[in-house]
Amino acid sequence: MPARAQNFLCQSCGAASTRWAGRCEACGAWNTLVEEGAATSPRSARKGRLFAIEPLKGATHEAPRLASGVAEFDRVTGGGLVRGSVLLLGGDPGIGKSTLLIEVAAAYARNRHRAVYISGEEAVAQVRLRAERLGLGDAAVELAAETSVEDIVTTLSQGSTPRLLVIDSIQTMWTQTVEAAPGTVTQVRGSAGELIRFAKRTGAAVILVGHVTKDGQIAGPRVVEHMVDAVLSFEGEGSQQFRILRAIKNRFGPTDEIGVFEMTGTGLREVPNPSELFLSERELGSPGTAVFAGIEGTRPLLVEIQALVAPTTLGTPRRAVVGWDPNRLSMVLAVLEAHCGVRLSGHDVYLNVAGGLRIQEPAADVATAAALVSSLARAPLPSDAVYFGEISLSGAVRPVAQTAARLKEAQKLGFTRAIVPEAARAETLDSGLALTTVGVLVNLVSEIAARGDKSHRLERGRGVAAE
Ligand code: TYD
Ligand code: MG
Repeated sequence: MPARAQNFLCQSCGAASTRWAGRCEACGAWNTLVEEGAATSPRSARKGRLFAIEPLKGATHEAPRLASGVAEFDRVTGGGLVRGSVLLLGGDPGIGKSTLLIEVAAAYARNRHRAVYISGEEAVAQVRLRAERLGLGDAAVELAAETSVEDIVTTLSQGSTPRLLVIDSIQTMWTQTVEAAPGTVTQVRGSAGELIRFAKRTGAAVILVGHVTKDGQIAGPRVVEHMVDAVLSFEGEGSQQFRILRAIKNRFGPTDEIGVFEMTGTGLREVPNPSELFLSERELGSPGTAVFAGIEGTRPLLVEIQALVAPTTLGTPRRAVVGWDPNRLSMVLAVLEAHCGVRLSGHDVYLNVAGGLRIQEPAADVATAAALVSSLARAPLPSDAVYFGEISLSGAVRPVAQTAARLKEAQKLGFTRAIVPEAARAETLDSGLALTTVGVLVNLVSEIAARGDKSHRLERGRGVAAE
């Protein structure tokens, strides 16, 4: 029996399957399988041609990259766009992808590089209108509203090679080489493949915009992530003006850098010192908040960690986290219970990283623990102190990388005290801050609790004492 064609493709992850199912077995997304016709169409058999094989040792040239001048964008890409590379910019609809890319295209054009912006979603007039609103009305960016990849490639193969080609978005493009509707996995992959070939052949840097959709109605950017050189995601909380540009994959640069922007009425404003921004709306003197001295990529970043611990009315207390790893929070809660005598099993716990930032460092453990205990004991933490350190399962506070950079940033922003892991002492001698070193978490917990509201004082082994 001939093998059955795998005709059903998940629009979220691209996995193929022979039959329809309500849930994709590969990524677990619901209702994302769509029949798209055979994924592979056998072309006329062609005999292989000979090609030259080269030794690994040989002439190399440093990836010829070109900075755009938009500093936060350059930081995340690792110094600018590499010739012939393809970058995917993913993000929710409306987050500001088109706005960012028209600004980047204008920045290249300002430096006399040919920048072409192809919109498959908006008419030329709409793109112009946006550019005018951004004060870029007279930028020398070339515009077109097109969706046929073949037409785009043919047109751009004439004249000088563009230094930058923006395709907004890959989900609106279609290529004649595959038979499937625009927006499906097959079309998105086929179109991306053609545009990647164009980039490699001509040396133009191509940026593909990819909308992230939760419902799987159109193929998500994940289906082309493996084909491109770099994947950036543009994120932000709906209610916040901050936008974070983050590298998820980068063949030519780091993947831990973030770029910070603020969406204003006249476009995206770069935020060169994000700590100031993330700390700007602090409520001083309220319990449950601690300032974490973190590092994002090469840049120190101070953020406020907010915790609310409140008696629960539910059988299973709630644990809700925004901006941090929920597993990491569970671990900190377990250590507080097991080693510090803090009973939290009768309390709901809410944790929030202010400003809509998402942090990944375990170095935030100590700041989180401090915020939690501060909320439970109703003991405000000193507003001029920063916290960092990793907590081990034994309840010890472990040192983290780049202590000096964290302390320097704190001092720059006017903090006078730091609560640091004991083992970090040697690195911190000339920080200019008053240091408190912590070897085991329980010491920090008792110190915070001792300052608390008497009626809510923590008692070891008994959680919150009765009034
Ligand atoms: P857009 O770049 O169109 O988002 P995407 O391409 O990711 O779908 O941005 C749309 C949002 O940004 C829209 O809600 C309006 C807002 N915006 C501003 O606040 N200021 C501006 O100057 C611009 C151009 C957009
Ligand atoms: Mg857009």
